[in-house]
Amino acid sequence: MKNLLIIGVLAIQCISTNAFAEMPISSTSSSISSDLVTTMPAAVLLHSQTNSEIKDDDYEMSQQVNQSEKDTARLIMVAQDIVRTFGTELKVTLVGKMKTEGPVAAIQVCNVKAPIIAEKYSSDGWDVGRTSTKLRNTSNYPDEWENAILDQFAAQLTTGVDIDDLEVSAIMDGEYRYMKAIAMDGPCLICHGENLSPVVAKEISRLYPQDKAIEYKLGEMRGAFTLRFKL
Ligand code: HEC
Repeated sequence: MKNLLIIGVLAIQCISTNAFAEMPISSTSSSISSDLVTTMPAAVLLHSQTNSEIKDDDYEMSQQVNQSEKDTARLIMVAQDIVRTFGTELKVTLVGKMKTEGPVAAIQVCNVKAPIIAEKYSSDGWDVGRTSTKLRNTSNYPDEWENAILDQFAAQLTTGVDIDDLEVSAIMDGEYRYMKAIAMDGPCLICHGENLSPVVAKEISRLYPQDKAIEYKLGEMRGAFTLRFKL
């Protein structure tokens, strides 16, 4: 029975909102917490077992499901908390530096400090980073799943979903994965907007000759926070 549940939980994959509504085996839907349903618009549980096999041991199943719900809900809360504090620290450090020493010096904050700050939050089994479809630092390259989620977020934005509500959780390949969209804010325009000052543009192209992370507009999706936790 334990194996059954693990297979089910590990098989959660992000496909599409509609696919989630058509989750193939309803009795296992409770292994996704209600939190996860709201925060995971794109998740679907692909189960390799049949309903009749599951019915045999409903009580044991429900005990395991409850534990799994708790674990998943806890992971979501931790991920959301990491993103909140990581995002705030990045912004505060960046805006502080821009105020005191100007944008060119602040590029250093992103260039040098952003990866260090990300590293700081990558503790206790968590791997914390940022990604985007238009990159500045190529080492932030999205993997296949991240790419699919970025596309999905972009599609959801065109249907009027609020950017602050775009987040996704999934469990796959023995990992919990979490992504949350990042919006372009006022100060971001200085280094990612349409009208970079010549000094800023020069410094960015010196450090990132392949830079693609410009010409964003206020409120647009710049990319996403991306977290992983080995289960
Ligand atoms: C002072 C210039 C500057 C400002 C202002 C700035 N950034 Fe950046 N941003 C950078 C640099 C430089 C990098 C590359 C960091 C690295 O090497 O990891 C970067 C990288 C990123 C990345 C990682 C993906 C990638 O393209 O490598 C995201 C996401 C991002 N910035 C979002 C933002 C947001 C959101 C804001 C506003 C809150 C913002 N940035 C403001 C300079 C800036």
